[in-house]
Amino acid sequence: MGNATDHLWMHFTRMASYREGEVPTIVRGEGAYVWDAQGRRYLDGLAGLFVVNAGHGRTELAEASAKQAAELAFFPLWSYAHPTAVELAERIAALTPGDLNRVFFTTGGAEAVEAAWKLARAYYKRIGKPTKHKVVSRFIAYHGTSMGALSITGLPGIKSDFEPLVPGGIKVPNTNFYRAPEHGDDIEAFGRWAADEIARAIEREGPDTVAAVFLEPVQNSGGCFPPPPGYFERVREICDEYDVLLVSDEVICAWGRLGEYFGAVRYGYQPDIITTAKGLTSGYSPLGAMIASDRLMAPFLGETGMFAHGVTFGGHPVSCAVALANLDIFAREDLTGHVRANEAAFRATLEKLNDLPIVGEVRGDGYFYGIELVKDKATKATFDDDESERLLRGFLSTALFQAGLYCRADDRGDPVVQLAPPLIAGQEQFDEMEQILRAVLVEAWQRL
Ligand SMILES: Cc1ncc(COP(=O)(O)O)c(C=O)c1O
Repeated sequence: MGNATDHLWMHFTRMASYREGEVPTIVRGEGAYVWDAQGRRYLDGLAGLFVVNAGHGRTELAEASAKQAAELAFFPLWSYAHPTAVELAERIAALTPGDLNRVFFTTGGAEAVEAAWKLARAYYKRIGKPTKHKVVSRFIAYHGTSMGALSITGLPGIKSDFEPLVPGGIKVPNTNFYRAPEHGDDIEAFGRWAADEIARAIEREGPDTVAAVFLEPVQNSGGCFPPPPGYFERVREICDEYDVLLVSDEVICAWGRLGEYFGAVRYGYQPDIITTAKGLTSGYSPLGAMIASDRLMAPFLGETGMFAHGVTFGGHPVSCAVALANLDIFAREDLTGHVRANEAAFRATLEKLNDLPIVGEVRGDGYFYGIELVKDKATKATFDDDESERLLRGFLSTALFQAGLYCRADDRGDPVVQLAPPLIAGQEQFDEMEQILRAVLVEAWQRL
């Protein structure tokens, strides 16, 4: 095998950081663990990248893929269908809340987000509201990197190189209660305020220019912000009041991550569109989906109506076959139930870390947690750029990995360590995560 840095252009990677050291190369996975080329074992604390929900090494998913490829490797969904796409769309529609019955397949998350924005625009054009085109989303939220999805993304650091982006991406506050700018002592009032900020943004922009609001059930970037009680209820009211579509971006939060098939179900709200990808196949083949309500498809069902959008590999037969087999595993092993039964133990184990001076807050839900690191617990003071650089980029990620835990140390918002293990994980893995994190965070604190 050649050197990883000779020809491979890694994603979101400072290539120079591997000028000296070797690129960690993962060659095998089994259950909640992966092994590198040197045979060292790591706990996969991030399910790859919030992807491998059913866990590694599932030969039945590999077999489903081989069987489908042998039978029909490829056919497009452009005016033709194939059985696995038909069956999977039906299965998904049965799992979604309300009348989200129309499944448009993509190859990944950003494509699902693009498709949702395009559908929102096309829908409003068709129902006689052609000026509704803008999108509201939250600061620090990540919704993908294609130009439209990047416009919806609220992370300035990954946008500036590519500006000007698609116009019409409006940003509102996220639900970071730990750093609430208002109502820091009352989470419900804070949630109400954060939701009302969406209404104020719509008013400011002009309701007849806004097509959709894109929100994750639990916001990933920034470190797992769950919705305050009442937040989504209020957002739904606002969307109805202004005739704006509510898009639940569940690229991470679907498929058991929060103990339900969809995050919207967990928090009891009804979106107009769900975007998803990642765990739908547990990563054994790439697939995404934009799932829309019957109402949104209706204007495209006339004689010459068409949603003029598509990608060659969207709903690839092999990926659909893998997704069906993946959902069989979910049903057979009750993976969503397993998350619900174990999430309290996961939380309690991670909350043990609260005794460390560097741990500001442990937050999340289901199997999806962020640990915010601070310089001063009492004042919640965060690290300056230099400290952040030394601590997160220079030390933490590598030290955690060397200690046998693959997870994410992220400083795109305030510094956080993120955990989202495969859904098969249990107390043994929770303890392993806690012990490795404790040792490494103690050392990080000493180094500061
Ligand atoms: C909420 C959300 N939306 C969209 C995306 C983009 O998905 P993809 O990387 O499959 O394009 C991601 C990726 O992490 C995501 O977390």
